[in-house]
Amino acid sequence: MAERASLPSVGEGIPPRLLVTGGAGFIGSAFVRQLLGEGEGFSVTVLDKLTYAGNLANLSPVDSHPGYRFVHGDICDAQLVGKLANEVDCIVNFAAETHVDRSILEPGGFIRTDVLGTHQLLEAARQARHSRFLQVSTDEVYGDVAAPERSHETDLVQPRSPYSASKASGDLLCFAYHATYDLPVLVTRGSNTYGPYQYPEKIVPLFITQALDQLPLPVYGDGSAVRDYLHVDDHARGIAAVLAHGVVGEAYNLGRGEEPISGMMVAQAVLRLTGGSDNLIQPVLDRPGHDRRYALDSTKARGLGWTPEVSFRDGIARTVRWYEERRDWWGPIKSGEFLDFYRRNYRPLAGSAPTS
Ligand code: NAD
Ligand code: TYD
Repeated sequence: MAERASLPSVGEGIPPRLLVTGGAGFIGSAFVRQLLGEGEGFSVTVLDKLTYAGNLANLSPVDSHPGYRFVHGDICDAQLVGKLANEVDCIVNFAAETHVDRSILEPGGFIRTDVLGTHQLLEAARQARHSRFLQVSTDEVYGDVAAPERSHETDLVQPRSPYSASKASGDLLCFAYHATYDLPVLVTRGSNTYGPYQYPEKIVPLFITQALDQLPLPVYGDGSAVRDYLHVDDHARGIAAVLAHGVVGEAYNLGRGEEPISGMMVAQAVLRLTGGSDNLIQPVLDRPGHDRRYALDSTKARGLGWTPEVSFRDGIARTVRWYEERRDWWGPIKSGEFLDFYRRNYRPLAGSAPTS
């Protein structure tokens, strides 16, 4: 099982005192839970603004760990970030606005956090003379990739949404700080990630929670756009491997590399596992600029000893079970702010019934 593989410990490459920004979000909290749960001797300060996507409940499994500390704040706050940076050996930056659809509705917050916030962190790391700075980025920076190609780390970045453009800008700033100031940066570019504790706006947790409530699964267009889904435990472990063993100044793709999976295939898998009717599938107006395909070549990260262990088949079944059991976690989220976003975002296909 993926959870049983051990992480590098102190002395095996990961600096002992880490500032994990965005650690109350989906992937950041998985990384913190892994590090404090399996690694030895680490102390982790989580800095998180607790936006709609941040949730302290994601960190409750570690909140009594002696090496854990939470600071509520913004990565754009230069003074706070400067102070915290002086108390640690490295920064792992997960903090970001992360949902493509929200970036289409309101891009400004993405530029602020993903570009200006990353800049503040790089400045703080430079002043503190850190031994590592890891920027958590995404496969979306490569843009749409035609089959059968896979993106390599040396490919041009060609982002096409405000989200992916803001992330690509963050990556470029990291490489500029390496070239100019010799800051030891590392960039990971993970593929679409799913698993427990994911805010129900991305396709997997949205479709699972909709199906569990017998509500429509809104599939964009004809549902044929594909992604390379990676389980969050594998993603978090990949970030740890790059942090421990990566060559500074370089990017590392983190993808599972299975056959890419379409939106319609995700809907069908979720309905099969939840016993929901196919009638719940609701085609909706396509996302503007919808990238048709992402696919990564992750040979370089595999060369560091990282191997993704969770197949989509097993991972989606485990994830459905988790959401079935943890309605206490997601039930309250699917109200106010979530419903407001849902109503603003989804539009019926011409001639079909309105989304609900
Ligand atoms: P998420 O949306 O679940 O969490 C983001 C976290 O950042 C939240 O806790 C939020 O409160 C915090 N945050 C936002 N703005 C902040 C600010 N200004 N200051 C401090 N904290 C702030 O995101 P996620 O899915 O866990 O993604 C984490 C990282 O991984 C992001 O950088 C994202 O671009 C990248 N990534 C995500 C995926 C994916 O499929 N989810 C895939 C590849 C890469
Ligand atoms: P998403 O989870 O938003 O991730 P990405 O950042 O890669 O776009 O979307 C994954 C795929 O699923 C993408 O092709 C769009 C599609 N999708 C839907 O069909 N319906 C939805 O409600 C969502 C959120 C996504």
